[in-house]
Amino acid sequence: MAAFKETKLPPDAPAAQKALGWVDDRFPLSKLWNDQWGKYYAPKNFNFWYIFGSLAMLVLVLQIVTGIFLTMHYKPDAALAFNSVEYIMREVPWGWLVRYMHSTGASAFFIIVYLHMTRGLLYGSYRKPRELIWLFGFAIFLCLMAEAFFGYLLPWGQMSYWGAQVIVNLFGAIPLIGPDLSLWIRGDYVVSDATLNRFFAFHVIAIPLVLLGLVAAHLIALHEVGSSNPDGIEVKETLGADGHPLDSIPSHPYYTVHDLFGVSIFLVLFSAVVFFAPEMGGYFLEYNNFLPSDSLKTPTHIAPTWYFTPFYSVLRATTAEFMYVCMAAVAAYVVFIWLKSRLSITVKSIIAVIALLAIIGMLPQILDAKFWGVVFFGSSVVILAFLPWLDHSPVKSIRYRPDWHKLVYAVFGLSFLTLGYLGTQEPTATKTLISQVCTLIYFSFFLLMPWWSAMGKFKTVPSRVTFHPH
Ligand code: HEM
Repeated sequence: MAAFKETKLPPDAPAAQKALGWVDDRFPLSKLWNDQWGKYYAPKNFNFWYIFGSLAMLVLVLQIVTGIFLTMHYKPDAALAFNSVEYIMREVPWGWLVRYMHSTGASAFFIIVYLHMTRGLLYGSYRKPRELIWLFGFAIFLCLMAEAFFGYLLPWGQMSYWGAQVIVNLFGAIPLIGPDLSLWIRGDYVVSDATLNRFFAFHVIAIPLVLLGLVAAHLIALHEVGSSNPDGIEVKETLGADGHPLDSIPSHPYYTVHDLFGVSIFLVLFSAVVFFAPEMGGYFLEYNNFLPSDSLKTPTHIAPTWYFTPFYSVLRATTAEFMYVCMAAVAAYVVFIWLKSRLSITVKSIIAVIALLAIIGMLPQILDAKFWGVVFFGSSVVILAFLPWLDHSPVKSIRYRPDWHKLVYAVFGLSFLTLGYLGTQEPTATKTLISQVCTLIYFSFFLLMPWWSAMGKFKTVPSRVTFHPH
């Protein structure tokens, strides 16, 4: 073991410097700060899209802190839960503020994370060598969805109760193990006190712990390979005399100030919602949830909160008739792969066999549309994880892609938003048809990406980033 070496400071050094030196000799505090932020060199051409990572961290802290205060007064008991939330709103000093910050924070979190992921899509941030950053991000996204789902049951209102009932019942569509699986998740034959207790445990401790670990892994991976930028250029390839990338600046003080400005704008918008529109027209807090849960009164319209609705729409679009379109689409995709892909004959054959089995499985006599709805619902989320391997474009950023690629992104974005909107509405024949078209566009965007992303005339990527000082 190396001998302990104490940092020698002049006797008249400031007390704070001496204290820091004492800590640094025993724990790498300054090193951690410098590696992760203080001397972390980031490209100098970040635009507003690069603010959402910091904002996501801010909202994470906000949710944990407000959550701790809510837990001090909330009762995870089916007989007491609804009234304990009303007590927080009416009796606990500032309880209404803490609760509205937490409920608005949940929606804000998803808005920020969706924008953060959009940035990834536009600038190809997930491309080599940042695949793991994306995968950690994807795992964070899954955890966030679980966290929001478990948390939504806690107020024990009508929508909490029936939303959980519908989603847990989805697992029942899985052949053989489905019914037992839903029973196991609920801990009872219907959503009940046992369900509330376990969802509480997951919401307040299990998922937040995993989430914090994943955010740490996300940032360690980011700081290992370095940040990308709107040009998609690897700044580490052009080093200056000091050994740092020429087009980079230390995060502190430059991005500290940049991020504080973004945080200020966010807090203004966030406060406007918390103080003036916490329900946001029923999108952030649904009106039905101000009624205590009643297991004997099913609401006529059950829909999840807005951030789940794009995926929920995919589930609802999967009707028995739509299965025939899916069978044709799977067959067409296999033919396309055989004709266009450079995969080996063995891999192509395996894909063909899997596709054939899937088509047989889609026959109404074998597996019903409800099962496939759950499969497509899950796949519409999981497919995001594969982006780093689906995108074959020779450039990372949208700036240097052919102009028609922007149209592809726009159509995809519009379909995603339409699915999201339709998921909040009661289904009609026309709305179901539109959601089916959007579902096909959604999956085609990803499944055909290996081809379309490499097609067209690409612009020349400059060797240095584009930067216009203000
Ligand atoms: C709690 C949620 C999250 C937090 C706190 C978080 C935090 C951050 C931070 C601070 C950065 C660096 C600053 C920036 O580029 O914006 C970053 C970068 C990144 N994040 Fe996240 N993130 C979260 C969720 C996600 C999700 C859900 C994804 C994607 C599925 C994702 C993908 C990425 C990628 C690819 C980068 C690298 C960007 C680049 O270098 O160009 N993150 N994240």
